[in-house]
Amino acid sequence: MKNYEEIYEYLKERNATHLLKFYDELSAEEQTNLLEQIEIIDFDLMKSLYDNRDVIPDSENKIEPIGFTKFDDISEEDKKRYIALGEEVIKNKKMAVCQLAGGQGSRLGHKGPKGTFIVELDTPKSIFELFAEKLHAVYNKYGVKIQWYVMTSEDNDEETQNFFASHSFFDYGKENITFFKQGELPLLNYNGNPVLASKSKVFKAADGNGGVYEALRKNNILEELEANGVEFLGIGNVDNILIDFFEPTFLGMMVEQNRKVAMKSVTKVSPEEKVGVACKINGKPGVVEYTEISEEMANLRDENGNLVYGESYFGFVVYTTSFLKEIAKGLTYHVAKKKNSYIDEEGNEVIGEEPNTYKFEMFIFEGFSFADDMLVLSVDRKKNFAPIKNKEGQDSPETAIKLYNDFIKG
Ligand code: UTP
Repeated sequence: MKNYEEIYEYLKERNATHLLKFYDELSAEEQTNLLEQIEIIDFDLMKSLYDNRDVIPDSENKIEPIGFTKFDDISEEDKKRYIALGEEVIKNKKMAVCQLAGGQGSRLGHKGPKGTFIVELDTPKSIFELFAEKLHAVYNKYGVKIQWYVMTSEDNDEETQNFFASHSFFDYGKENITFFKQGELPLLNYNGNPVLASKSKVFKAADGNGGVYEALRKNNILEELEANGVEFLGIGNVDNILIDFFEPTFLGMMVEQNRKVAMKSVTKVSPEEKVGVACKINGKPGVVEYTEISEEMANLRDENGNLVYGESYFGFVVYTTSFLKEIAKGLTYHVAKKKNSYIDEEGNEVIGEEPNTYKFEMFIFEGFSFADDMLVLSVDRKKNFAPIKNKEGQDSPETAIKLYNDFIKG
C-alpha cells in the first residue's frame, strides 16, 4: 500500500487533497483505513463518468420487439414436460438462488437493510424470513437445501449478517447461506469531486444491481457454483414478497429451449404504466425504460391484441452459470442525482436538502445483452409480484400485504 506522502501527491494531481483534510485527527487505524479507501478509487473512471454525466447513454439505440410466451398459452402437454425438467433441476440441486439485497431502500425509508423490514402479515415476518419459508418449502417437497446467496453492500453487510445470526439463520443452516458484498463507487458532488461522509470515510455508494456480475466473479462464487455442479442461478429483487424462484415450468422451459438467460415478465396494466419493458436493443435482449420509447411504440399491439412492448421486467431472472461467466466487465454506468449530507472540499458539512450529488449505478438487465436472445415468460402478476418499494401508496407494504394475502389465502 502507498504511504501518506505518496497518496497526498497522488491526490494533489487530482485536486482531491481534501479527502485527507482530517487525517491528523484520526487514530492510526482510521488513517490506514482511509488511505486504503482512497487508493482503490479509480479517479480516471470517476472523471470520465462526471464528464459524461449529461450524455444519455442509450439515445442512439435501435429498439425492436422481443418474442415472449404467455404462461397461460403453454399447452398442458408442454407444461408436463417442462415441469418434469424443471423439477429435475431443483431435485438435483442444479440451481442456486441469489437475492439482490444491496440497495439503499431510500424510498421505503426503513432503517436497516430492506430484507429486515417486518411485513405486518397475520403473523408479522421479515422479508428475509418470508424468503426462507420458500426455501423450507422446497426442502419439504424435494428434500434438498438450495444454496441461498445474499448480495449485500458495504453499507448493510454487517447488519444483514447480524440479522440472520440473531434469527438463527431461519433454521435453514448457516452453511446453506452465503453472503457476498457488491462493489461501490464514490459519490461525486456537483463540482465532480469525491467527498467525505465523515472525517475518516470517503462517501461511497453501492454500484447498482448490475454490480452483481462483478461481485459474483470477485467473490469466486461462479467457481463455487461450478464446483458444486450448480448450472443455474436465479437472481431476484429482495423486495418482492411473492417472488417465485422455484416454479418448475419456467425452469424446464429454459432447459428444453437451451436458453442462457430467462426472465419472467408481467404484462403492463396499461400502455402508460411507468415500467421498463423487455425488447431487443441493437439486436440483443434487454429492457428499455418507459422514458425511452415513444407513445406510438408504447401503444403498439400485435395481431393478438397484446402490447408489443408490454412485458415489464420486475426483477427476476435465471442465468446459466456458464453464461454468467461470459458477461464481461464494463456495463454502462447511469447517473442519478441524489440528496446526501457530506463534508465538502473546505471541510464544511453540507446538508442534503436538495439533490446535490451524483451517484453512478449499473443495471442488471444490461447484462442480458451478452446473449443473442432470451426467454421471456409472461406470468400472472397476482402469483408473482408483490413489491415493497415505497412507504405508502403504490408498491407499499399495504399493497404488498394485500397481494400476498390474496394469493396465499386464495
Ligand atoms: P431498487 O432499484 O428498487 O433500489 O432495487 P432500492 O435500493 O431497493 O430502493 P430505492 O430506489 O433506494 O428506494 C431493486 C433491487 O436491486 C437491489 C435492491 O436491493 C432491490 O432488491 N439493489 C439495488 C442492489 O442489490 N444493489 C444496488 O446497488 C441497488
